[in-house]
Amino acid sequence: MAVSSLTMSLVFVKISFLILSLHLFFIPGNAAETLSLSYDFYQKSCPNVEKIIHSVVSQKLLEAPAERDSKINLSLPGDGYDVFFRAKRAVELQCPAIVSCADVMTIATRDLIHLVGGPRWEVTKGRRDGLISKASRVDGNIPRVNQSVSEIIKLFKSKGLSTLDMVALSGGHSIGFSHCKEFISRIYKYNATFDIDPTMNQGFALSLRRPCPKHNLDPTVVALNDVATPFVFDNFYYKNLLKGVGLLATDQMLALDSMTEGYVKRMAEDQSAFFKHFVAAMIKLSGIGVKTGRDGEIRRDCGSFND
Ligand SMILES: *[C@@H]1O[C@H](CO)[C@@H](O)[C@H](O)[C@H]1NC(C)=O
Ligand SMILES: *[C@@H]1O[C@H](CO)[C@@H](O)[C@H](O)[C@H]1NC(C)=O
Ligand SMILES: *[C@@H]1O[C@H](CO)[C@@H](O)[C@H](O)[C@H]1NC(C)=O
Repeated sequence: MAVSSLTMSLVFVKISFLILSLHLFFIPGNAAETLSLSYDFYQKSCPNVEKIIHSVVSQKLLEAPAERDSKINLSLPGDGYDVFFRAKRAVELQCPAIVSCADVMTIATRDLIHLVGGPRWEVTKGRRDGLISKASRVDGNIPRVNQSVSEIIKLFKSKGLSTLDMVALSGGHSIGFSHCKEFISRIYKYNATFDIDPTMNQGFALSLRRPCPKHNLDPTVVALNDVATPFVFDNFYYKNLLKGVGLLATDQMLALDSMTEGYVKRMAEDQSAFFKHFVAAMIKLSGIGVKTGRDGEIRRDCGSFND
């Protein structure tokens, strides 16, 4: 697939990170609550649901405006949600009030990852949508880029996700991007001893100073999470970490902490191992704290509650 077609994918992955954040921070419960989900949940009520969503996601990738590639300047949230909104609208046309936004997002995220070179897996369905707006509370609550590895492990563990799951899910940064403010403290005045974070490849750090100047930072500018193969879902994210070319401090630390470095090396050496663990972790993640049965609702519009 042409690079221009893939840029949109960057947006989606940021969104899948958002989903991850929503799960981890706002939804009580843990990965054990997956019993009432099933692969054939919509077999009678909306048999084409996966086809409909896949076609919307592929279409969205093809539409990516080419000029965006040269600039790596994306205005995020609107675009990122757009694919989910569109997928949901397409599903509503054929199966009104049947398929939840939660299921649409789960399927669309899976399709996106597969369309940019990643693994594909079957997703269970039957989630219902929450009645409390969580998106509005996310901003101040996403994992902070300066959290320590043990803090992050603890957070994942509280949701039933292991250290290995955490390292594998971090591989989502094989595509995607981050805003300058998320790593700028690593490239200027790091601390009293070092101007640049000493765990960072110094040439890499210097190359980030041009798009991310110390003053008059353009908040719309972003840097690629995986400089080696930014548009392909692969294991270069981990290879980069071993060379000090991790963009965020939380990425880089995974290669340096004794609790995680073994996993990073394994993923860097073996892409199929990465895919296997990534899929297992995504499946666990998509089962965390889901609402089923009579809980919640089937939203008509993913952007708002039914009245
Ligand atoms: C990025 O895009 C925004 C909105 O389209 C624009 O205002 C801004 O100037 C752009 N920045 C760069 C560096 O092109
Ligand atoms: C992380 O960053 C925030 C603000 O960016 C700061 O308030 C906090 O003290 C930092 N935590 C650590 C452990 O450095
Ligand atoms: C600066 O950071 C490095 C690496 O994290 C650390 O070893 C060093 O002690 C820090 N220096 C100060 C003065 O905090």
